[in-house]
Order: sequence, then C-alpha cells, then structure tokens
Amino acid sequence: MKGAARLFGLVLSLALAGLSPTLAAARAPHAAASQRALAAGAVASPDIYGARAAQAVLRQGGNAVDAAIATAFTLAVTYPEAGNLGGGGFMTVYMDGKPYFLDYRETAPAAATAGMYLNAAGDADPNLSIVGNLAAGVPGTVRGLAEAHARFGKLSWKQDMAPAIALARDGFMVTPQLTGILKGASPSVGKGTNFDAWAAGMKAGQRFRQPQLAETLQRIADQGPDGFYKGVTADRIVAQMARGPIKGLITHADLEAYKAVWREPIVGDWHGFTLITAPPPSSGGIALLQMLRMKADREDLFRGQALNSAQYIHLVAEIEKRVFADRAVYLGDPDFVKVPVAALTDPAYIAGRARQIDSAKPSPTEGVAPGLEKPQTTHFSVVDRWGNAVSNTYTLNGWFGAGVVVEGAGFLLNDEMDDFSAKPGTPNMYGVVGGTANAIAPGKRPLSSMTPTILLKDGRVAMVIGTPGGSRIFTSVFQVLANAYDFRLPLKAAVGAPRYHHQLLPPNTIFAEPYGPYSPALAQGLKARGYVLQNQDYNGDIEAIEVMGRTPVVAPDPRARGAGLVVR
Ligand code: GLY
Repeated sequence: MKGAARLFGLVLSLALAGLSPTLAAARAPHAAASQRALAAGAVASPDIYGARAAQAVLRQGGNAVDAAIATAFTLAVTYPEAGNLGGGGFMTVYMDGKPYFLDYRETAPAAATAGMYLNAAGDADPNLSIVGNLAAGVPGTVRGLAEAHARFGKLSWKQDMAPAIALARDGFMVTPQLTGILKGASPSVGKGTNFDAWAAGMKAGQRFRQPQLAETLQRIADQGPDGFYKGVTADRIVAQMARGPIKGLITHADLEAYKAVWREPIVGDWHGFTLITAPPPSSGGIALLQMLRMKADREDLFRGQALNSAQYIHLVAEIEKRVFADRAVYLGDPDFVKVPVAALTDPAYIAGRARQIDSAKPSPTEGVAPGLEKPQTTHFSVVDRWGNAVSNTYTLNGWFGAGVVVEGAGFLLNDEMDDFSAKPGTPNMYGVVGGTANAIAPGKRPLSSMTPTILLKDGRVAMVIGTPGGSRIFTSVFQVLANAYDFRLPLKAAVGAPRYHHQLLPPNTIFAEPYGPYSPALAQGLKARGYVLQNQDYNGDIEAIEVMGRTPVVAPDPRARGAGLVVR
C-alpha cells in the first residue's frame, strides 16, 4: 500500500537519523495561517447540547478552545454519566500551527496509600475503588478548563460558561438512552450512595433542571477556578467525604494544591500524517502509535485481508497483545516513574515487536513478555475556521463515577482511583492489569487510556478523533484510523464499522459488540484460530471530524446520542 511504503521510508529515515518521534515532528513542514484556514468550524459531541454550545461560541467569534470549554461545561450538565466537574481529562490542542497537550487528570489525595484498597486478606477490594467517597481522586476538570482558557481563550470565561449555566438552570430534555444508562448503572453506583435520590429526577421525555449545579457553575463563572477549589464548593466537597458508609480522603489542602500540567504531546509520523496524541500519564498515545506502526510494518501479513475478517481480527489481536504487555509494566505517571517513551516509540523497537507476530494462531499469552529490556468516559472534537483544533477526552471513569453527588453542589465525583493498580497484577474494572509503575501514591495520577488525537497533513488539520471506552480507547481509535486510511472508508462508515478488542488478558479472548453484523462464519473463523469469543456492550463513542480539502466533515458515533454540527 502506498501509505505504508511512505511510512516505511519515514521510519527508516528516522531510525537512520536517530531522531525521536517528537523531534521528527518538530521538523514537519509548517503551514502559514492562510493555508491552515478552513471553510467552517465544526464540532462532534456526545450529545446535541454539547454541539450547540460549541456552535454558539464559534458564532460569537470564539476559537476551538473557547468552543471546547463551552462543550465541556455543557456536558457536565446534559451528559452526567461522563461529562463532569468532578472528574478529569486530557486536551490535545493544535493552535496557531503548534501542538500542545494539557493534563488535567485527577490525582490521589495526600492521605492515599499504596494498600488503601486491600482487605484483611491482602486482596484488592474493587468495591472500594469503584463506588463511594473513597473511590474519588482530586478533580481536575475545572482547573484544566481554566488553564486552557487562560492560555488560548478569545472570548471571556463567562461567555464560554454561559450555555452550561442556562441549561442547568432551565433544564434539558432527558432521552430514553440516558434513562437506560441510569437504570443499568444504579445497581452498582447506587449502592450506599446518594445516586438514586439524585437520579430520580430524570425522566425520559421530561425536562431536568439542576439549580444547585447552576449555582456551582455560576460560582465558577464569577470566581474562576477558586469558585470550585476554594470557598463554598470546596467546603461542600470536603463535607461530602464524611457522609455515607465509606468516608473519603479529599481535603481542602488537596483541592487547593491541584494543578493541571502542560506536557509535551506524543508526536509521530504515520502514512504521511503527523499524529499529535496523549503522552503519559496516558498509555493511549504510545499504544496508538505502536499499533499503527506495527500494522504498517507487517503489511506483508495484512495485505489482502478483508476488514474484520477472522484473519484481520487475529492479526490486530496479535498487535494488541504486545501493546498491552508493555502497558502493564512500563506505564504510569511520569512525575513519579520514569516512563521509557522514546524506547517504546522507537521504530526499530516496534519493528522488532511486529516481527514476533504469529500469523497462524495466537501467540501464547505467557510468552508475550513486555518488550523492553530491563466505558466510560466521553470525548468531543472541535475545529475552528482558523484551522485550530481541540481533541478532548474527559471522564468520571465509570458511568456516573463513584455514584456520589456532592450535596448542595449538584455534581458527581469520579472513581478514577480504580485506574491505579490497587494490587499490582490484579485487574481493574476494565480487566487490565497494571504493575508497580502504576501503584497508588499521594498526589500521583492514575494511568489512563484516553487518547485525544489530532492528525495533521502538511501542517494543516486533517482529522480530530477520540472516544471513551477505558482500555478499548486506543484500540478503537486505531480501528477507525485503519478503516479510514488503510481501507479508505468514508469517515461515517469508518466510525460505524463494528469494532473488536483484545487486551492480553483474559487469554486469547476477542470481545465483540452487539452492534453491527456478527456472522456465524466470523465466529467460527476466530474459534478455529484458538480464540474465545466474549460479548460486550457497544465499544466506544467516537466523535470525529475529518477535514476534506478545507471543509470539515463530522462523524458522531451512531452507537450513542452523539451529534455533529458544521458551523459557518
Ligand atoms: N478512566 C478511563 C481512562 O482514563 O482511560
């Protein structure tokens, strides 16, 4: 394939020149402002309210970051299962021709300890890290959005927050899809929490008003991040920690100390695109780059394989196996552990891993050692008419986080502490295993899979993409990119195609969604190769924008209640 040949050339030249992916991208051609400009702005959001908020702000002359802030605050009102004030996330930004990455991931409270979720027998108790006060990390969203605004915002903070405040005060229409998710989540997040009392106000087809949340948002609009991390809101978060059967750890000092961090994004070349994506504490960017490059390296095996045939799914699973083995051992918060980013993204290393792929059958799980020597979240994508872009994934972790609503403040707290390795070697709620690099420590950020990604072509935005899905995040982004650029599917079809997933453990297991065609022949083909098939709920909620020429094309995922708008 032409793209793969181009990649091989680039990989070879990078290897010869000894360049890291980041340095290589810094040398990528820079497009002038007039070349970057688009015919319109656009947004792909997990719901229509988030999309309309971005539209309103873009029409007032705001840029992609203003629109992203408006969407993020709005989703905290209308998409309560994952949109949030009480969680955290990552924002990948392309602004005035330069890449940026903002880490506003939650942190472990100062009183957290490595063994805090172990029971008397020394086993990790997942109930404690998933539901209730003790599951919550120190929220990062408000600080992160304020940082993004201070650096790049064109409109005022109040203008960016106005759509969210109006929706909290006046209400939004609840969909049956949302009440379905509420019903499904209640037996878990409702256990010993105030979740069910809060959720009772949401009825399909009726307006849901959140006056306490409107007041919290108004405090943030008036006082900036101090309206959340200090004063009344902070008092209410801390008071909440003492309520219910399980006490929490977040203190005033934790809230005041919370900082969002600008980090160097992972930047790499693939198929003639420059990929800008998430660095640690996300595993997502490294994993995505490894997957894309391993596939390109093994073009000899992939050539002629139909999309989502048994052999194609097997080959992708072979790649995933190796990526998850690395993830489990090397990845963690770079402020606490040394993450070998350059080694893990080194083309020669990735090529060596790709050579180990067994084209006939699954490689034995135990034999896939890490290679170096010694759903629920939500995403939105925005572009503006100046050719800037924001790819933002943020999360409460599980749907509705810890199920804890901060009384008097009207928002949910995350259960992000479950993304740490409570006991190295024990799977978290996504079934992925972590190592000591991701052990709990005060102030540390848990390892994430969130992969907000921007692709550039010759310095101009070509695609903005991301999704929720826990450990399925980067395998989903990988599949859509392969569908769009290797199989040349139009973006909507690339997003809509069924997705499959493997993650090293459970051994040789392929997860399939109920969505889309799943033929007996495919099941038979996978079983014949030695795989166990496991069904799961839908896989991700990709919100993508592709720029064709100068015109953005939006592709909200048909799996959920996403909405895309082109804004002229
Ligand atoms: N909580 C999901 C993630 O950070 O990947």
